[in-house]
Amino acid sequence: MGRILLTGGAGFIGSHTYVELVAAGHEVVIVDNFSNARRDVIDRLEVITEAPVLFHEGDVLDKRFLEDVFRQHDFDAVIHFAAKKAVGESVEQPLLYFQTNCTGFATLLGAMKDARVFRIVFSSTATVYGNPVSLPCAEDHPIAPLSPYAHSKVTCETLLRQLKESDDRWAYGILRYFNPAGAHDSALIGEDPNDIPNNLMPYIAKVATGELPHLNVFGNDYDTPDGTGIRDYIHVVDLARGHVQSVNKLIDEDDSHVLNLGTGTGYSVMDMLRSYEKACGKELPYKIAPRRAGDIDCFFADPALARDYLGFEAQRGLDEMCRSSWNWVSRLRNR
Ligand code: UFG
Repeated sequence: MGRILLTGGAGFIGSHTYVELVAAGHEVVIVDNFSNARRDVIDRLEVITEAPVLFHEGDVLDKRFLEDVFRQHDFDAVIHFAAKKAVGESVEQPLLYFQTNCTGFATLLGAMKDARVFRIVFSSTATVYGNPVSLPCAEDHPIAPLSPYAHSKVTCETLLRQLKESDDRWAYGILRYFNPAGAHDSALIGEDPNDIPNNLMPYIAKVATGELPHLNVFGNDYDTPDGTGIRDYIHVVDLARGHVQSVNKLIDEDDSHVLNLGTGTGYSVMDMLRSYEKACGKELPYKIAPRRAGDIDCFFADPALARDYLGFEAQRGLDEMCRSSWNWVSRLRNR
């Protein structure tokens, strides 16, 4: 087992990964600047894991801060989540995305190198593939980023490869996520966007709690069975387990890898809505709206490589994603 630094460990995927890492016996230290996470996530992680959480508040752009963290702990590996992730926002503020996602990552890698920590799991995205030319989408699909956000992730992936070519001590796990959904079984942590959500599941969740009047279904004339867009939703706890398996592989074998994390199964917007209705026990209002710019009809992973290489397989289905999300948001509303 190892000592692991988790940047962005108070965020949605980071917090779930923290829980799975601790359950697997790792010692974990969180770094977060709380720019997109609630401070009470730390207390909640303590309740779930029944142990104190070690964390440092600070920014990955702050090299002195990072040096100080690396001085205080002797890490075996880093898992890097701390980044910005909204496609639309990245189109409006490309500089912010380059600064946070690329410069922040380069600053972290510099601090790692100084501290002689050479293993890193990097949070990437299936958006790096752009419009799919073949489905299911495997890791050797062409890379064609379409937004500043996607570009920032491709830049970081490239930097990792170049670093490894320059110095073989580096070992990386690049994980390309499909669409994370759901929440922890405890209903103590989950996705909690500050503004009106861009993504489907948190939007449906806010319709279910009554915070938003209806779901806008962006297009019902796609080339899919019910006409609405199909995506590969993966339960955040499964995604978190994927990180544990990736970092274990790095610690045990120093073997670099680039893997999709998805289920291989696609669901439509209407499938999602119907499953959420089952979970919350009521009908959810929706309206058919125009297509959203940049959306595609269908996108899902080829999960075979992650299965063969890590033994990773998603275990939780759509109903579990919706049920756990509903448990989380209804509890959040009522507390
Ligand atoms: N959708 C709606 N109404 C909404 C929101 C979404 O109908 O209010 C539809 C979209 O048109 C699409 C599907 O729901 O068909 C999923 O949309 P999301 O915005 O939830 O997810 P995307 O697939 O567009 O993108 C997400 C993340 C990216 C990530 C990518 C990985 O936003 O950051 O998945 O495939 F990279």
